[in-house]
Amino acid sequence: MNNVNGILMEWQRSVVGSTFSQSPNTYRSTLQKAIGDAEDWAPLMAPVVRRYFERPGLIASEFFRHSVTEGIGAKTILHVADNFAGPGLQSQMRRHAQDELRHSKLFMALSRYHEREYTENLEPAVAENDQFIEHFSGEVEWFLCDTHIAELRNVVMLTLYMEGAKATNASSWVIKTLSKVLSDERRHVTYTLPYVMNLLDADSANVAEFISTFKHYAILSRGDVERLAALV
Ligand SMILES: [Fe+2]
Ligand SMILES: [Fe+2]
Repeated sequence: MNNVNGILMEWQRSVVGSTFSQSPNTYRSTLQKAIGDAEDWAPLMAPVVRRYFERPGLIASEFFRHSVTEGIGAKTILHVADNFAGPGLQSQMRRHAQDELRHSKLFMALSRYHEREYTENLEPAVAENDQFIEHFSGEVEWFLCDTHIAELRNVVMLTLYMEGAKATNASSWVIKTLSKVLSDERRHVTYTLPYVMNLLDADSANVAEFISTFKHYAILSRGDVERLAALV
């Protein structure tokens, strides 16, 4: 399975039986529309990821990048949880931040498994996020919705990583570690889901915003494909 729609439909099936299966369901129709409107970057990324796994130094460099971005995610989520979230959501978000911190460590371990072929300067990304944290004005619902869409992207990306690892006979430790991260990412999509569903039901402007944010993340992912493809 290497297209966005197929991978996300698989996730949807896993949450059937929850509030998600209620009908009418603005979320479900919005997600379908968003997937239809955005470029499907997964079939482009799948062969590139596979080539990375064939060159351990390259995949090690990419794992290093993920370690940094997961650290950025952990710091941001904890900041929003501690300063803006109500009690119930706060504990869910704190757990989420702990997961991302663990992912940062796991990706660092995965990166160290092979020698990195290149080292990227990721300080600008860290600085940019620090700016975001400093100016965040407390729209927790929108933060959760943006996070939800970013996590949808993570689910697709990790699924492609799992397939790349399996196709190139990566060690069982590598496959097991990626699978742990993937199952956490699926949980992050699922716990944010009821908040996103409420937001979409509340106002049709939020539906349009969801679709455009989903498209924005697809553009970022397409950029990732190009960045990765340039090296193989
Ligand atoms: Fe993560
Ligand atoms: Fe996550």
